[in-house]
Amino acid sequence: MNFHIMTLFPDMVDNGLSESITGRAIKNNIIKVNTVNIRDFAQNKYGHVDDYTYGGGAGMLMQAEPVYLAYRSIIESNSLSERKPRVLYMTPQGIPFSQNMAVELSKEEDIVILCGHYEGIDERVLEMIVTDNVSIGDFVLTGGELPAMMIVDAVSRLVPGVLGKEDSAVYESFYDGLLEYPQYTRPEVFMGREVPGVLLSGHHKNIEKWRYEQSLQRTKERRPDLYEIYINKLKKEDETKKQNL
Ligand code: ADE
Repeated sequence: MNFHIMTLFPDMVDNGLSESITGRAIKNNIIKVNTVNIRDFAQNKYGHVDDYTYGGGAGMLMQAEPVYLAYRSIIESNSLSERKPRVLYMTPQGIPFSQNMAVELSKEEDIVILCGHYEGIDERVLEMIVTDNVSIGDFVLTGGELPAMMIVDAVSRLVPGVLGKEDSAVYESFYDGLLEYPQYTRPEVFMGREVPGVLLSGHHKNIEKWRYEQSLQRTKERRPDLYEIYINKLKKEDETKKQNL
């Protein structure tokens, strides 16, 4: 799977993704991260890619042309003009990123991610190239690089072969819409705190039941919004089962 990232700070993205699991996936050629420096497409000898905003207002805006040329270079050098790839623009004005979106994106062959800086990007080029406006939360960052790295991370770990055997054994938060249950490793007693007895019992049914109950309780306490959705889903499944009897 190929991520093409348009940014003014390619080193930030390359360095951030070159460690740990994403780094290993890049080395093993399971994912490719192709950072494209928008500044390389500046139309002046100073390498400026920003300018004042029409109509006034504080701050500078990224110009349309270097962004458009960077996009075209990605399309052309990767022969992508036939199957137009998704182009994600990282913006706090976008749709909130979610695990469902990560699953959907993990089925794509190529994804283009556009990182903004300054006060944003000239609207015209966004209209021309962007397919999805994506936010990573209701807060404002200085640029789209960290959000882009988060998306690459969340999507990559769903690509077959990226997680090793050990990693993939990790229970997924959000699997089935519930938060993960608490986990423990050695020692059995840490500063007077004991590992819950059921986990030492070797009784798999009881362990499963305990974990499910912990997941339910944790979700109810920490994410009542997710809990509500989960309970409603259970109720619906129950009703359809009854109707089918
Ligand atoms: N760029 C700046 N803030 C952002 C956010 N919250 N989500 C995505 N991109 C951003």
